[in-house]
Amino acid sequence: MLSQEKNDELTRVGPNDRAGAVLRRYWQPAALSVELEGPRPVGPVKLLGEELVLFRDEGGQLGLIGRQCPHRGADLCYGRLEDNGLRCPFHGWHFDSTGQCVEQPGEPEGSRMHENIKTSAYPVVERNGIIFAYMGPGETPSFPALDCFAAPDSHVFAFKGLWECNWLQAMEVGIDPAHASFLHRFLEDEDPADGYGQQFRDTAANTEIPMTQLLREYPRPEIKVEETDYGMRLIALRQLNDGRTHVRVTNQIFPEAICIPMSNEMTITQWHVPVDDETCYWYSMFTSFGKPVDKEVMREQRMKEHRLPDYAPLKNARNNYGFNPDEQRTKTYTGMGLDINVHDQWAVESMGRIQDRTQEHLGKTDVGIIHYRRMLREAIKNLQNDIPDALPMSSGASVSEIRGPVSIDAIGNVNEKWEDVWRAGDRLRRQACEWDASL
Ligand code: FES
Ligand SMILES: [Fe+2]
Repeated sequence: MLSQEKNDELTRVGPNDRAGAVLRRYWQPAALSVELEGPRPVGPVKLLGEELVLFRDEGGQLGLIGRQCPHRGADLCYGRLEDNGLRCPFHGWHFDSTGQCVEQPGEPEGSRMHENIKTSAYPVVERNGIIFAYMGPGETPSFPALDCFAAPDSHVFAFKGLWECNWLQAMEVGIDPAHASFLHRFLEDEDPADGYGQQFRDTAANTEIPMTQLLREYPRPEIKVEETDYGMRLIALRQLNDGRTHVRVTNQIFPEAICIPMSNEMTITQWHVPVDDETCYWYSMFTSFGKPVDKEVMREQRMKEHRLPDYAPLKNARNNYGFNPDEQRTKTYTGMGLDINVHDQWAVESMGRIQDRTQEHLGKTDVGIIHYRRMLREAIKNLQNDIPDALPMSSGASVSEIRGPVSIDAIGNVNEKWEDVWRAGDRLRRQACEWDASL
């Protein structure tokens, strides 16, 4: 349970809010690269409560600048993409990718007024299908060498989805290893061979046991957390009846990403990015350690469930998430279909736009959530005390050496330590990898 004041502190994302200030110290996913494909690469982005416009100029350079024209406030999303920048259609003021006004064609000849007009602008970089923005002060931070960035583009598929709730409750579902046995329970198992591109449909590593069966039959994991240089490692151990242990290792990457195993071949690195206080996007990089990803199939699977242009899910509160009581009785725990994203979406949206944490009761299985909130509070305190270098993944060179993190489902023999199961499983996967995935 949190006080209202603490809940506000951890959830609000504006530039003058405490959690917002922490999030601004990190690269944030701003758009999918595919959103800028097509004849006119210009589009709106709302990030951390700020209305922005993202564009790619004729030279290929990306720009992310304030959406409202600093002259009289017209919407620059309708701007003319020309002369290596964006020109406002109202009176022709022209902006480059740094937000500098470089021309005011209607002002008197020789006017230098434009030199003093600069709109907000943020640095952007593109990595394996996602365009990231840095909205914080000072130099841009280094990028960690996570697997999703180290892999070649052919082995990474990126997608996103809109959730109508605060980013923190979305993040907290990703560090809650207990829910998979309930929320994502399938009452019958499918053939794991049909599970390409989907989570929890493979067999548990090196066994014939479908993950769906394992999660269903062993609903009481022992959960441990460990703080790491990138955030937090979560270990969920399920003791099987035959004496072996199922080991699932997932990760929290500070401040708002997770990295989890999706199948034996792929991991998911997923950010929960605030649009504003009450809305967020999940951005995922599905990274293959085996064959190149079949982007067409993976996009098609997900486009059946989302609409453009905002990637809002077709199942949502307005249609009861497709809830079907017969299905709930016979097929799935939720009665909301087989797409686990919908289950998670229902769980986090049904809490309300910002979960009222003054009314919650956390148990032992919520250890990841409890630990993460402590880390976030610590980061807030360090920023307030003006020691940004104390934030996780904050200082220069060492950040670019952060690799992995190692996310795996594996089954260990009787008496085998989870650390050994985890490392051995990961070593095998990395050795067989087509790209250089060495740690
Ligand atoms: S409002 Fe944009 S140039 Fe006038
Ligand atoms: Fe989930």
